[in-house]
Amino acid sequence: MRVGLLTGGGDCPGLNAVIRAVTRCLLQQCQAEVIGIKDGFAGLMEGRTQPLTWRSVGELVGVGGTILGTTNRLNPLDSEAATEQALRNASAMGLDALVAIGGDGTLTIANGLAERGLAVVGVPKTIDNDIEGCERSFGFDTAVATVTDALQRVSTSGQSHGRIMILETMGRHAGWIALEAGIAGSANIILLPEIDFHLDAVAAVCREREGQEHFTLICMGEGAKPVGGHITYDTPSPTDRGKPRLGGAALQLRDRLQPLVNSEVRATVLGHVQRGGSPTPFDRVLASQYGVHAAELVTSGQFGRMVTFRHGKLDSVPLARVAAQNRRITADEPLLRTARLLGVSVGDAPSACLPCQSR
Ligand code: F6P
Repeated sequence: MRVGLLTGGGDCPGLNAVIRAVTRCLLQQCQAEVIGIKDGFAGLMEGRTQPLTWRSVGELVGVGGTILGTTNRLNPLDSEAATEQALRNASAMGLDALVAIGGDGTLTIANGLAERGLAVVGVPKTIDNDIEGCERSFGFDTAVATVTDALQRVSTSGQSHGRIMILETMGRHAGWIALEAGIAGSANIILLPEIDFHLDAVAAVCREREGQEHFTLICMGEGAKPVGGHITYDTPSPTDRGKPRLGGAALQLRDRLQPLVNSEVRATVLGHVQRGGSPTPFDRVLASQYGVHAAELVTSGQFGRMVTFRHGKLDSVPLARVAAQNRRITADEPLLRTARLLGVSVGDAPSACLPCQSR
C-alpha cells in the first residue's frame, strides 16, 4: 500500500506529531510506503514528494511548523483541469490513499477530491478550534497556553501602571482562543467575534474598576466588533492563504475607549507568537492520537472521513459534513456561563456580578 500525506494551510503546533504518528502507524500495521507531499496541494499538482520513513519522523513529536514545505494558494478545485491534474498525479504517484492534514480550506479541498473518487482521510488542524464536527483541533491548546501566559504578563505590567490593557488574540471569526485564554488568564472583559460588544458597557466596567482595582484586563478576539461596527482588517485583500487578514481590532478599541475612561488604555496584538513553536504535551498527545486514528481509517478502508474528537472521545465524521463550515461560539456555550459567573463581562452587557464585586 502507498499512502500520500500532506499538510495544508497555515502552520500549527502538532503538524509534525501527526506526520510522525500516521507514518509510524502505517509502517507498523501494513508496511505501507508513506510519501510526504511537499507544499500542500501544490506538491500534488506538481509532483513534489519526499519519502517518510520510521527514522526520518522519529524526533518530530515536539517540533513546530511542518517538515512538508510551505503553504500556498494552489487549489485543485479552482478549475476542472486542475482537479483532473491532481487526480492524475495521485494515480501516477501510485497513491492508494491520501491523508490531508489541514483546516477548513484544506478539508474542503479534500472533500472535493474525495467526491471525485480519491481515497482521502482528513485530520483537523487549526489553532482557531473552529472546525465543524470537532471539539478539539490540535494546536488550539498550545495557542491558549501562549495567550494565557501573555495575558498574565500584560496583567502584571498593567497593574503596575494602573492601566487598561487590551490583548488581541487570533481566531478569525471564532472566539474560542479568546474565551478559553480569557478565563484561564483572568481577564475582566472578554470580547468575542460571535457577540458584538457595546462600547458603553465596556467603558462602564473599566470605570467601575478604576475606582476599585485600578486596572482592567481585556482579552479580545481579532474578529470582535462593536454593535453597528465592522471587523478590523489588517490587509483587506487576500493574502497568500487566499483570505483577507484580520488584525488591529484592539488598536481600534483602544482609540474608542480612551475618551470614555480616566486610565491610560494600551493594546497588544499578539500575532504569530501564538501559532508558532513547539506543541504543548496535550497537543502532542492529541496529534499523535489523530495520526494513529487516521492511519487506522486508511488501513480499514474508511475514506471520505475526518478524524475528530467529540463527546469526550476519538471518532470520525464524513468530510462532507465539515467542508466549508465553521464552528463558532453559540449563546448556549457552557464556557460563556462559566465566565459570567466568575464576574467576567463578555461585552454585551455590564457584568451581572458588579454588585457582588464591590463586597
Ligand atoms: O486560521 C489560523 C490563523 O492563525 C487565524 O487565527 C489568523 O487570523 C490567520 O490564521 C492568520 O493567517 P496568516 O498567517 O496567513 O496571516
